Amino acid sequence: MPSALPDGEPVPADGALPASALAGAADRPLGFYLHVPYCATRCGYCDFNTYTATELRGTGGVLASRDNYAETLADEIRLARKALGDDPRPVRTVFVGGGTPTLLAAGDLVRMLGAIREEFGLAPDAEVTTEANPESVDPAYLAELRAGGFNRISFGMQSARQHVLKVLDRTHTPGRPEACVAEARAAGFDHVNLDLIYGTPGESDDDWRASLDAATGANPDHVSAYALIVEEGTQLARRIRRGEVPMTDDDVHADRYLIAEEMLSRAGFSWYEVSNWATSEAGRCLHNELYWRGADWWGAGPGAHSHVGGVRWWNVKHPGAYASALAEGRSPGAGREVLSSEDRRVERILLELRLRDGVPLDLLRAEGRAAADRALSDGLLRPEPFAEGRAALTLRGRLLADAVVRDLVD
Ligand SMILES: C[S@@+](CC[C@H](N)C(=O)[O-])C[C@H]1O[C@@H](n2cnc3c(N)ncnc32)[C@H](O)[C@@H]1O
Ligand code: SF4
Repeated sequence: MPSALPDGEPVPADGALPASALAGAADRPLGFYLHVPYCATRCGYCDFNTYTATELRGTGGVLASRDNYAETLADEIRLARKALGDDPRPVRTVFVGGGTPTLLAAGDLVRMLGAIREEFGLAPDAEVTTEANPESVDPAYLAELRAGGFNRISFGMQSARQHVLKVLDRTHTPGRPEACVAEARAAGFDHVNLDLIYGTPGESDDDWRASLDAATGANPDHVSAYALIVEEGTQLARRIRRGEVPMTDDDVHADRYLIAEEMLSRAGFSWYEVSNWATSEAGRCLHNELYWRGADWWGAGPGAHSHVGGVRWWNVKHPGAYASALAEGRSPGAGREVLSSEDRRVERILLELRLRDGVPLDLLRAEGRAAADRALSDGLLRPEPFAEGRAALTLRGRLLADAVVRDLVD
């Protein structure tokens, strides 16, 4: 099952926020993440908060059903409106993620977006994204999303090789994600992303090159490439433990990352975050940039996390418990915490160091600053930004980003 939530303090039944959360809000962009917790089947590597019909059967009754989901989620958006009071900000980004949002009817996704439009209004240049599984869309579905206001779509491609897709339990066929990009373009989507995974057991360097070739050949304007994480408690972790499939080692991950950087740059993509590349500034995912830069976002849906002005909270995980809370007019929030200035400093370093522009050196304390000096002389940080007061990773630094960040937060 998906990993557990932290404890935190209780969230008030009406979802009200402390006054401190809204101070200075007008200067920060506001985004919405809408979680759709349903999948047709569970991929063996995935520990996201998502449920198949079988997993939901007998737990949560009709309330947990996906038929009612758009309306339930709209209830949380109405609750957000009340909790944010007279906050006048229109919404700058909306990101529908999962699970598999495209298991719902396109009209349901459009209705969820409509609730945001009604309660908050959308900024004129709002970025509106949905994730989509390649096997779950067709041209008519994409046209309906586009007409309903979606302008960015992110397909879970993962690999171009059948044997790799099989280890990942993906149900689409090779070639389908590339066809999806063409269908999304034809439907008028401005921005299209492909998600890739590298380091799957049994994947070779050549398989990875083939995936990158297929992805860039399809002409998306954004590619995310993630090293496969073997999450405890997943089917994949059990298969590796039983010796049925081999574990990929860190050197292989590093080699695959270098291949990705080389092939994506050659195809006209530039990295702007360690795992993300875009063909232009306009192609970057503004919603993720809100997360990485500590802006405000409201995460609606089971298990979704939110952050507004230094207050972080998270919803109950099960779709049945989530729907029951909203049906009774209660916030689905399970717990929250008010971040201290030290929490916020550490979080900024963790997130901003992964960005191309890096993190201001003046956020570092003496030990972190000494570590940054060492990282510079070890070739892990770039000299020019450093001279201008920023710690920004080199290519070698990107390979070792987790270790560099651990030293800098001291
Ligand atoms: C949670 S999925 C949701 C989108 C959609 N259901 C899909 O699978 O394409 C978002 C992305 O996270 C990445 N992902 C999920 N689990 C991962 C893992 N264990 N290791 C690396 N990447 C992972 C995949 O690339 C996936 O496309
Ligand atoms: S389809 Fe996506 S969200 Fe669903 S189980 Fe697979 S990776 Fe996880």
